Amino acid sequence: MEAHSVSPWVAVAYLIAGVCFILALRGLSSPATSRRGNRYGMLGMGIAVVTTLVTHEIASLPEILVAIAIGGGVGFVMARRIQMTAMPQLVAAFHSLVGLAAVLVAVAAFLNPEAFGILGADGNIMPVSRLEMALGVAIGAITFSGSVIAFAKLNGNMSGSPILLPARHVINLGTLGAILVLTALFAHSGAAGPGENPLFWIIVGLAFAIGFLLIIPIGGADMPVVVSMLNSYSGWAAAAMGFTLHNTAMIVTGALVGSSGAILSYIMCKAMNRSFLSVIAGGFGAEAGAGGGETQEQRPWKRGSAEDAAFLMKEAENVIIIPGYGMAVAQAQHVLREMADQLKKHGVGVKYAIHPVAGRMPGHMNVLLAEANVPYDEVFELEDINGEFAQCDVAFIIGANDVVNPAAKTDKTSPIYGMPVFDVDKAKTIFFIKRSMGGQGYAGVDNDVFYMDQTMMLLADAKKMVEDINKALAE
Ligand code: TAP
Repeated sequence: MEAHSVSPWVAVAYLIAGVCFILALRGLSSPATSRRGNRYGMLGMGIAVVTTLVTHEIASLPEILVAIAIGGGVGFVMARRIQMTAMPQLVAAFHSLVGLAAVLVAVAAFLNPEAFGILGADGNIMPVSRLEMALGVAIGAITFSGSVIAFAKLNGNMSGSPILLPARHVINLGTLGAILVLTALFAHSGAAGPGENPLFWIIVGLAFAIGFLLIIPIGGADMPVVVSMLNSYSGWAAAAMGFTLHNTAMIVTGALVGSSGAILSYIMCKAMNRSFLSVIAGGFGAEAGAGGGETQEQRPWKRGSAEDAAFLMKEAENVIIIPGYGMAVAQAQHVLREMADQLKKHGVGVKYAIHPVAGRMPGHMNVLLAEANVPYDEVFELEDINGEFAQCDVAFIIGANDVVNPAAKTDKTSPIYGMPVFDVDKAKTIFFIKRSMGGQGYAGVDNDVFYMDQTMMLLADAKKMVEDINKALAE
């Protein structure tokens, strides 16, 4: 393969694809421009795929098309079948495939360096290529095994509770250090012919092990950050593959995914009040553990009805709606928008308050509300709206729980302690939709808001309850 002689038009095509990806990321930063951003992303990917197909070198066109048909077919069926609520584990599964692809590319290059154009004049793999290969295989293997564990935890195949090995930080740092030292040795010394140096396989084995070791100590409640981190790793794995394949589009795209994933992880850490460094080290949130459940004492609470909610909201000046995971489960976003439309006709001011980790994936609530055509200017981020609860007549909580739990502010023993939450307790009236008093949020802890004087529990499926409220509002 003439790997290093890239024709100028290929370079230009990849450059245009790279610019499209940057414009895509820019567009995706706001709901108002996200459709345009998606279109740029599709255009960039289209250009990159066509360019790659036209300039294919290692595999023949029929082989590539068969691979696309198989992969595309499986992806299509999976994407159609997957429940919205199972999206985080699907994303983790996809990340594992990117990691595995990076490992396989590096292994192929190691065994058949001539095909990749990385043999030096002395018949050995060039040192710089050995370095790229070792880094690529290490990042890919970490991404693969880490994502498999994240998938198993999110999918319930493995307990969400942290598994804490004694001296895990020493083991992790030691393993990472060993990978770096072996990478340097592999790049600079010893046998360097095709498939010759056994250090390569030791690096692969250690990297698979460290991916596993880094994720097992992390509790289920912290998994969102892990999935986002693995997203970042998968980007770096793709960039490393780009170096091995001398493909600039992959290097650029991988770096974009890697850095944007890292920024997203950082933003999520801030939203959940976790330290970014402790995430990277692994084992943070060890005390968290999703779904642990507390023994619930009997405390008085008030049950409301759809009619109560309709009556009080019609009379209100302003209502803040706080959607959460339960809205996604019930698919209540459309009826919710209809409710807001009716309230607005009665002269009520309606706003939606979105927590950065509401639901089960970044932007989960924004996507659902956009699907229901909720106007973007009614949707507010946590920091922009939290000050308004004190002047708000009604806080309408629909399927949210952890993100409105005041224990995050007051109870140092709570697994969600430190996570910024909505100050719904400051609202004059609170309506809280969930199906039962027993069902807890993702973190598995009780919520004082259920028992507050101004709270009325609306116990039902979110969609059914909002439909009933809509009927009562229309009367
Ligand atoms: P949660 O704390 O998970 O609470 C969901 C609530 O919805 C529960 O109270 C549940 O109670 C109720 N519910 C479930 N199905 C319902 C239905 N059909 N109708 C009505 N209510 C229903 O949700 P949240 O406040 O959105 O918090 C998100 C949590 O997930 C945080 O702890 C966050 O860290 C974690 N997490 C977030 C992400 C991302 S990136 N967003 C990813 C993974 C985990 P019932 O069972 O009684 O109905």
